Amino acid sequence: MAILLDANHSSQLNWAIAKLRAGLAIALPTETVYGLAALALDEKSLTPIFALKARPTFDPLIVHVPHSGSVEMLAQNVSPLQKRLMEKFWPGPLTILFEKKKTVPDLCTAGSAYVAIRCPANEIFLKILRELAQPLAAPSANRFGRISPTTALDVIEELGPYGLEAVVDGGPCQSGVESTVIKIQSEERVAVLRPGALSLEELKKFLGEKIELVLEPVAQGALESPGQLSSHYAPRCPLSYVPDESAYVEVLARFARENISTQDCALLEVYPPSDREWDRNLSALPWKHRVLLSKNASDQEAASALFAQLRSLDRLPVKRIVARSAAPQGLGLAINDRLKRAGVRGASPKM
Ligand code: TXA
Ligand code: MG
Repeated sequence: MAILLDANHSSQLNWAIAKLRAGLAIALPTETVYGLAALALDEKSLTPIFALKARPTFDPLIVHVPHSGSVEMLAQNVSPLQKRLMEKFWPGPLTILFEKKKTVPDLCTAGSAYVAIRCPANEIFLKILRELAQPLAAPSANRFGRISPTTALDVIEELGPYGLEAVVDGGPCQSGVESTVIKIQSEERVAVLRPGALSLEELKKFLGEKIELVLEPVAQGALESPGQLSSHYAPRCPLSYVPDESAYVEVLARFARENISTQDCALLEVYPPSDREWDRNLSALPWKHRVLLSKNASDQEAASALFAQLRSLDRLPVKRIVARSAAPQGLGLAINDRLKRAGVRGASPKM
């Protein structure tokens, strides 16, 4: 059974550090979601990450560093724009792709010539990185294709049954959605491979008019970032994502065909319903359970509650979860991305 470690007890933290140094995978808190960490530069230490998560080896890992100075040992040809982005947004939820050096094992990058690096804004994680003096690879601490964990208990629920050794409890994660992943395509063009906790508006504001920011669409074929896999973040209960009126009509028609009553389903609302008629009608239907992520329409509040609430709904005996969308701005983009992919069936491993 996985051990819950108290981050305030230095002996417990030291135990976690010793285990990491010995090549074990330990779950750690970050400001976004909990990560399953192991020594990034030691291929043998990375193997348990893939095994515990049932993660395919074609999906590369993010490497976590204590400050931008550590990038030098992992990456080459660091550009002025990459330097400016690190200066501005680290520590914080921005993952940047760099040209990798040979020191980074191929397993870490899934054979790619690029390594994804970030500096997490979490004091516990940073302290561990500093003490270890080695970078840590850490994907979200969930089984592949499932909902990311935002509390230590969620991590134990996800990975405990599969042999996780321990999780350091740092309380609930602050932002609740994963980091924004970007690739600098040229000094004039930045691609967002995964919308996340750093909003595109903030990035745009920093990049200014002369640098184009493009959102890469969810790929169908060869993937620039496998996190773009359309099916991801899936609850066990089927989820229907309802961002607009046509999806609303389609879902109700499907429920009628399948003889499903909303009284056996749960509704997940990001904000209170808008003035649009279909939106109010959807909200007014008789639901077995309903959850509202943010009463005052704060995308920050909604993002931090999103995964925990999806997990809660997934524990309830309902036939379907119906999820409304956020306004497509700020963290709303990341929320909608996760909800849309939670509604696509297929990538989740059999539990
Ligand atoms: O907030 C976060 O980023 C969390 C915390 C734990 O740091 N980590 C996280 O890791 O979300 P993971 O493995 O669940 O998602 C990493 C994403 C995936 O979409 C992966 O495909 C992409 O980053 N990625 C990692 N390395 C890459 C690379 N070399 N090239 C392209 N995409 C990469
Ligand atoms: Mg993940």
